[in-house]
Amino acid sequence: MSKVVLSYSGGLDTSVCIPILREQYQYDEIVTVTVDVGQPESDLRKAEARAGKLSDKHYTVDAKNEFVEKYLFPLIKANGNYEGYTLGQAIARPLIAKKVLEIAEKEHVSAIAHGCTGKGNDQLRFEAVFRAAAFKIHAPMRELNLTRSEEIEYALEHNLDVQITFEKPYSVDENLWSRSIEGGRLEDPSCIPPEDIYKWTMAPTKTQGKLLLSLDFAKGIPVALDGAQVSGLQLIRKLNEVAGKFGVGRTDLIEDRVLGLKAREIYEHPAATVILTAHAELEALVLTREERKFKAQVEAAWAELIYQGLLDEPLTAALDAFINKTQERVTGSATLLLHNGTATAVARSSPKALYSEALVSFNDKSLDQRDAEGFSKYHGFQSRAYNKFVKD
Ligand code: ARG
Repeated sequence: MSKVVLSYSGGLDTSVCIPILREQYQYDEIVTVTVDVGQPESDLRKAEARAGKLSDKHYTVDAKNEFVEKYLFPLIKANGNYEGYTLGQAIARPLIAKKVLEIAEKEHVSAIAHGCTGKGNDQLRFEAVFRAAAFKIHAPMRELNLTRSEEIEYALEHNLDVQITFEKPYSVDENLWSRSIEGGRLEDPSCIPPEDIYKWTMAPTKTQGKLLLSLDFAKGIPVALDGAQVSGLQLIRKLNEVAGKFGVGRTDLIEDRVLGLKAREIYEHPAATVILTAHAELEALVLTREERKFKAQVEAAWAELIYQGLLDEPLTAALDAFINKTQERVTGSATLLLHNGTATAVARSSPKALYSEALVSFNDKSLDQRDAEGFSKYHGFQSRAYNKFVKD
């Protein structure tokens, strides 16, 4: 008996993988695993129903709280951002892979399969985790060099009912932190996306009214919305709904994939935008200039590691240690105004603020302005020396 476990989302790629694994790879038993990282309930139920017809055994693993607490909280502390992408899909992959690996071990399979193509980042992120164990790895889409149109044809021939058509062939991936939309005519970077690709956000030009909301943080982690305590999971769900109505959190960008390909990517992430904006605002109030400058460099390195799926790289842990140290003082609140697709900080406060109203105020005499004169004399000294003695 040959047995394989498949990381299964219920979408086109992974659904096509099931008959392929049976017919072309000759597996007798196929175990499918869907990891719940906050995709819509209806998607999970659809995946279960499809797996019920196609595979021999199916698992749905609830990893929502782990995703929030062990993956998204560190991302928030790191102001996670790669080229404007809030890293939602990237950071979920290692967690999904770990859960699939656990089932592979429990089910004593001989191989693990995934539905990633050979063009994207996900193959790298999954396999960085899978290859820690001795299982054989299959990536049928990559190994058979299948195009998306060939997959759609295959799905139609095999009655897979995946609800993806030649007219709307988008590849969509959703979890708590973001929704990504790729493929079809979006692949042409000069094509303006049709409005119907969006599901979490209203068109920023069509929203009505405005809303003020405040977020409280304790040591870098969001803990309350408008003064009421909430869990991370509740907060993210609520903000996706509320901020989405104001068109907040749409990103359309050209992204440099790990392999070097440039891709046009579209994302929706209302909660991520609100939380990351509020968090960065609070940091501006409590961290020193030196800490902020250095942390920006650490954040860029951290985001690249996460983008590559290298969560287990020791450097990631070392950067997290630095980031956690800075977050000890990131406690307080920030108020944002949501309006026509924007989330703008309009107020902030913290018991750890380095800010002194007295010192900076135009109406205060506790700092003697005359003390700055000596500093001013030296400021720009080298530039003046260069222009006077060295230039030409
Ligand atoms: N470009 C994004 C990333 O590399 C999104 C990946 C989306 N994956 C997908 N299977 N549709 O993180």
